[in-house]
Amino acid sequence: MGFYLITGGAGFIGRHLSNELLRAGHRVRVLDSLVEQAHAPGSDIRLRRDVEFIEADLRDTAAVRRALKGVDGVFNLAAEVGVGQSMYEIERYVGANDLGTAVLMQEIMTQPVKRVVVASSMSIYGEGMYRAGDGTRVETASRTPEDLRGGRWDPVAANGEPLSPVPTDEGKRPDLASVYALSKYVQERLTLMLCHAYGLEAVALRLFNVFGAGQQLSNPYTGVLAIFSSRLLNDQPPAVFEDGEQRRDFVHVEDVARAFRLAMEVPGATGEAINIGSGQSHGISRVATLLAEAMGRPDIEPQILGRARSGDIRHCFADILKARDLLGFEPRHRLEDSLGDLVEWVSGQQARDRADDAQRELEKRGLVI
Ligand SMILES: NC(=O)c1ccc[n+]([C@@H]2O[C@H](COP(=O)([O-])OP(=O)(O)OC[C@H]3O[C@@H](n4cnc5c(N)ncnc54)[C@H](O)[C@@H]3O)[C@@H](O)[C@H]2O)c1
Repeated sequence: MGFYLITGGAGFIGRHLSNELLRAGHRVRVLDSLVEQAHAPGSDIRLRRDVEFIEADLRDTAAVRRALKGVDGVFNLAAEVGVGQSMYEIERYVGANDLGTAVLMQEIMTQPVKRVVVASSMSIYGEGMYRAGDGTRVETASRTPEDLRGGRWDPVAANGEPLSPVPTDEGKRPDLASVYALSKYVQERLTLMLCHAYGLEAVALRLFNVFGAGQQLSNPYTGVLAIFSSRLLNDQPPAVFEDGEQRRDFVHVEDVARAFRLAMEVPGATGEAINIGSGQSHGISRVATLLAEAMGRPDIEPQILGRARSGDIRHCFADILKARDLLGFEPRHRLEDSLGDLVEWVSGQQARDRADDAQRELEKRGLVI
């Protein structure tokens, strides 16, 4: 059995990962600085008693050195996680995500571990993959601000013909449209490059939209389901950008936790960046409706804003063939059948709805079109 360090292990995914590892018989140590935005005052920050906890920032060299003592592998999950916010709190995002990972990797060079698994993100792809009418793959689809102002939400081919969104595989060229995406890509590359150079094993998991119990609800910069839940909890309609038909891939947090464990345990997956999604896609408006129904508020319909966020993408959902092949990963939860545990968690929370504040902040900075 192994002994593993989880950075950011007090967060949403980290807690589920701790449970997954302990269930499999491993030992767990967590290093987390308990960033206030991820742990609203009054939220329960206690970890299980069988998890060893070091409260420290990933940029604190001495703490990282202590945290690495005796561990077989590291899951690097610590990060600031808001795409919109990263566009104006640049130092904060580059500092926590990239300098943090740099410090971790620097220390791993002197206290090597067998394998490092880093949490990367679908955000590095930018717009997802498309197929043109003649069957060719299009990985450079995009929309101009004029398209968005004119409500032409779907990217089209250069000749104006429609494009069809298809699952995005790891071969798609990254298109980094936010500081957050850039910082996640740097985390991923630093990890894969340095581990390769020093003969250590490494895997990067490109996570799609993760959902489930324990999602931080008062943080307006995290997942769309958390934002919609806190709106509904406050009797407000979920506010949906564009026309609500944009498609995303929602993967359950327990599936993600299992994918992380497999990425640490499975021989042979090393050196790879691997998508972790559900392999399904859902329109955002439909997701808002499903959630309202699951929360017993079918009367609250989503509010379609008809406006876009600067840098936002239209469609992106995962091709998970590589995860199936290399990790033996198979999602067990479907969004339609798995909103129950999120709803149960939500109903026990008092979420302050800060979605309007977050939108105003983006508008003030000209980031809503
Ligand atoms: N949730 C998603 O949908 C999603 C999607 C793609 C990628 N990811 C990635 O997965 C990882 C975990 O995300 P999450 O949803 O659990 O977020 P989270 O905010 O719940 O957890 C992140 C944790 O990292 C800690 N942290 C932040 N900066 C730190 C620092 N400098 N030093 C030490 N600890 C620090 C926070 O206190 C928090 O507990 C992140 O790397 C995120 O970028 C998440």
